[in-house]
Order: sequence, then C-alpha cells, then structure tokens
Amino acid sequence: MEKKRILTGDRPTGKLHLGHYVGSLANRLRLQDEYECFFIVADLHTLTTKPEKSAIDQLGQNIYDVVLDYLAAGIDPNKSTIYLQSAIPSIYQMNLFFEMLVTVPRLQRVPSIKDMAQAANLNEESLPFGLLGYPVLQASDILMPRAHLVPVGRDNEAHVEITREIARRFNYLYGEVFPVPEVLISDTPSLVGTDGQAKMSKSLDNAIYLSDDEATVNRKVRGMYTDPNRVRADIPGRVEGNPVFIYHDVFNPNREQIDDFKARYREGRIGDVEVKTALAKALNDFLDPIRERRAYFEAQTGLVERVLYEGTVRTSQEAEKTVTMMRKAMGLTSIWNRISRKGRKAIERETKAETPA
Ligand code: TRP
Repeated sequence: MEKKRILTGDRPTGKLHLGHYVGSLANRLRLQDEYECFFIVADLHTLTTKPEKSAIDQLGQNIYDVVLDYLAAGIDPNKSTIYLQSAIPSIYQMNLFFEMLVTVPRLQRVPSIKDMAQAANLNEESLPFGLLGYPVLQASDILMPRAHLVPVGRDNEAHVEITREIARRFNYLYGEVFPVPEVLISDTPSLVGTDGQAKMSKSLDNAIYLSDDEATVNRKVRGMYTDPNRVRADIPGRVEGNPVFIYHDVFNPNREQIDDFKARYREGRIGDVEVKTALAKALNDFLDPIRERRAYFEAQTGLVERVLYEGTVRTSQEAEKTVTMMRKAMGLTSIWNRISRKGRKAIERETKAETPA
C-alpha cells in the first residue's frame, strides 16, 4: 500500500531555533517513517513582504541554512524529499488556477495576513496582491504532491483551512483530484522566549538556535528570565509560566530531577543557578546529536546542495503530474489537443501542397 503524504516547510528567513523544533520539526521527525514526506523551502513566500533585490540576494545563504538545519535535526534525505519552491514552475501554474477558487473577502479575514502586513509596515493601501494571496500559494504547495497531512504551527492553521476549501472547490467543479488535507498542530505549538515573551523568535532576539554551540547555550540560559519576584534563593518562587521550568519540562528527560527542582523552588530551597546549570546541560545533551549531524553534513562539500537539488528534481516531476491532472480535469488539455492537432494538420497540408510531385 502506498504511504500517505505529508507536506510542510518553512520560509528561508534565517536559522531555525528550539521553537521551530517543538512547534513543527519534532512532528516531522516522528512521522517521517510512517508518511512519504515533502519539505518545502518556501522562498517565493518571502517575496510577499520582501520583493527587493537586496532581500533576494540574501536568500541563497538562508536556503542553505534551513536545509542544513533540517538535516542536522534528523530529517533523513534518503526517506524524505526537501525541495526549493521557486525552482518548480508548476507551482506557479497551480497558484493561478487556485486564485480563481477563493474570494478576496475570505482572504482578507485571515488573521495572519494582517499580522504579516503589520510586521512589514504595510497598511491597507500598500498591501501587495501577493501577500493577500499568501495562503493561495501555500495551498498550491500543499496540494502539489496531493498531501494528506500538514504539520504546522498555530499561525499556519488558517492557511491549511483555506487549502481545504480550495481542494473541495476544485474537486466539486472539475472532479476528484485532491485529497482534502488534515492539519496537525503540535502539542507544544509555541515556545516562550528566553526573555519570557510568549514566542521565541529571531526578531525578538530571545531564541536558542539549533546551531548554537555549548558556550552560547550556557550564556543564554544564564541570562534567562525566571520568576521576577524571587529576589533571593531562600524565598518561594513560581514554577508555573517560568520559562526555565517550561524548558525543563520540554527538553529535560530526567523527570525526577525536574520534580525535585520544582518542589524546592516552590519552597525557596534552591537557587536559580542550580536550576539553570541543569537546564543548560539538558539543552546541550539535546543539541549534541544535532551538532554531530551538522558537522557531518557541513564537512562534505556540496552535500547540502545535492540533497536540495535531488529533492527539487524529484518534486518537479511530481508537480508536473499534478498540473497535468488539473489541466485534464478542467478540460484545458482537450481544448489544446484539438487545436494543436488541427493546427499541425494544416501545416502538413501546406507542406504537401508546396512540395512538387
Ligand atoms: N507559511 C509557512 C511559514 O509560516 C511556510 C510555508 C509555505 C508552508 N508553504 C507551506 C508551511 C506549505 C506548510 C505547508 O513559514
């Protein structure tokens, strides 16, 4: 029996951090044996807010960094396919067909578009058509391999909902071509920043990266926000909502140690330093195999590029298959076939007439 398919991925905006890991990478790693996985490096989506040449010039490095982060995290290129969105023209074609199947007000109601516009200093007057179409392009990505499951963070849930609507609408108008994909949201859909802000993010400068070395992790953990009301180690502290304990819960496999720390923290019988030192150790233990795989892939010239190249070639073929199915279902193929057949015949007749017997 054929495996079901997963499609998900990231915009190449920089290095991946622990928030990406718990929000989406962990699910991908868990499911890469059970599903046939496609991971998109969505560079076209970065153009929706940053079309400038100077931004495009940065993409090459960012693309490399994301793919290396995937491989370091444990995505196995022999099982999964990693590919570059902009190198696949069929996605552009699908995007055009899907633009006809969704309304402008529907897109205007997607909250993440307002958020992205705001973050990019764009208002209603300066909102690019392409940014409004962000979820349509994402629907093209997801439906391109006719995926069944889409593991994403909460911020992308609405985009998958639009994808489902588009898939249903296409199937209704032209016949069953697409499975209606399910969304999969992680149990830890977002991770607090080291500064206690709700979300770990590059722009907030509160992230621990998958590529951070041991000394960097130690320094970042030492500087982490804890319970602001606990000014001395001998007064009771709050465990709930305390980023240091949130990270312990997610990354420290030693439950006994965590329970002991929490009990003593609540009673004012442990200093921040002890809790943080153990956390830094847990994070470094978690990151060590990732560091090892990173070193392995980095050491071999062109290996990262090769993985992306092979994945993109393979995906291109899959994308062409889907576009062919779409054009056929829509009836565009038969129109063109008829026209080209008659056109070719006319050329033949002309050449026969011209050829002297
Ligand atoms: N929108 C995703 C992000 O926030 C990136 C992305 C583009 C994506 N196409 C996708 C995610 C398809 C999942 C499936 O970065």
